[in-house]
Amino acid sequence: MRLNSPKINIITKACMKASRSLIRDFGEIENLQVSSKGPGDFVTSADKRTEKIIIEELQKAHPDYGIITEESGIINKANTNNRWIIDPIDGTTNFLNGIPQFAISIGYEEENEIKCGVIFDPIKNEMFFAEKGNGAYLNNSRIRVSNKKKLKDALLVTGGPRQSSKIKEEIFSEFIKVSNSILSPVRKFGSAALDVAYVACGRFDGYWQRELSYWDIAAGIIILKEAGGFIDFFEPDNEAPLKKNVLASNANIHDELSDLIIKKNIE
Ligand code: IPD
Ligand code: CA
Ligand code: CA
Repeated sequence: MRLNSPKINIITKACMKASRSLIRDFGEIENLQVSSKGPGDFVTSADKRTEKIIIEELQKAHPDYGIITEESGIINKANTNNRWIIDPIDGTTNFLNGIPQFAISIGYEEENEIKCGVIFDPIKNEMFFAEKGNGAYLNNSRIRVSNKKKLKDALLVTGGPRQSSKIKEEIFSEFIKVSNSILSPVRKFGSAALDVAYVACGRFDGYWQRELSYWDIAAGIIILKEAGGFIDFFEPDNEAPLKKNVLASNANIHDELSDLIIKKNIE
């Protein structure tokens, strides 16, 4: 792997350490204790164990930084200038079903801007990472978004809705509308972090999803931007700033995709 900045090194080290137990857990999935955290959303002992290792590693380097995590909530609330944004397993349902499509996702935010991020798929041993101004990488190779020019030719991916969503109908009709505008069927892979990483390296041309959480997407923001992609957070919910509607794609199809999905306030 190329010579990285101290921040990327801290994050990748935490990912590597946490992934060792994650890979073990994935190998004996049937022995994991599963408890329900709400409709459509499960939390496993693996999530908690992975998150604990990541937090310990990151805190060794910067004990004073704030942390936003899926499982433990907010740590060091007072520090809002330097924060780690962590999803210990993005793609829990895949993980629980023995499907090798999940990742650890860690972003670093400074003054409200994500400056670097790592998305690590431990089963395929794919480490996506980027730091502002330094490009995006998959393992040793620089990555870029695809060059697909027209939305109709694009391969798109999406996710959701959750069982608890109050806008399920809207999400399903949006899916139909997008599907009717393109030639290839829309994919659903079940890990938002990897969906964005795959747009960043050109496997997909675009991705959109409503009602994500900040930790699903934080690392992906910088990886996608540094790979030359565009990302929008549309129709923000001021009451719930950690909830995000996301549209991410290569630069060429961005306007066409936005026109389909983002509601215009026509007076
Ligand atoms: C989920 C995944 C999934 C997306 C859900 C997320 P989790 O994260 O990213 O692709 O559709 O909205 O909650 O629960 O596996 O960390
Ligand atoms: Ca997630
Ligand atoms: Ca998760």
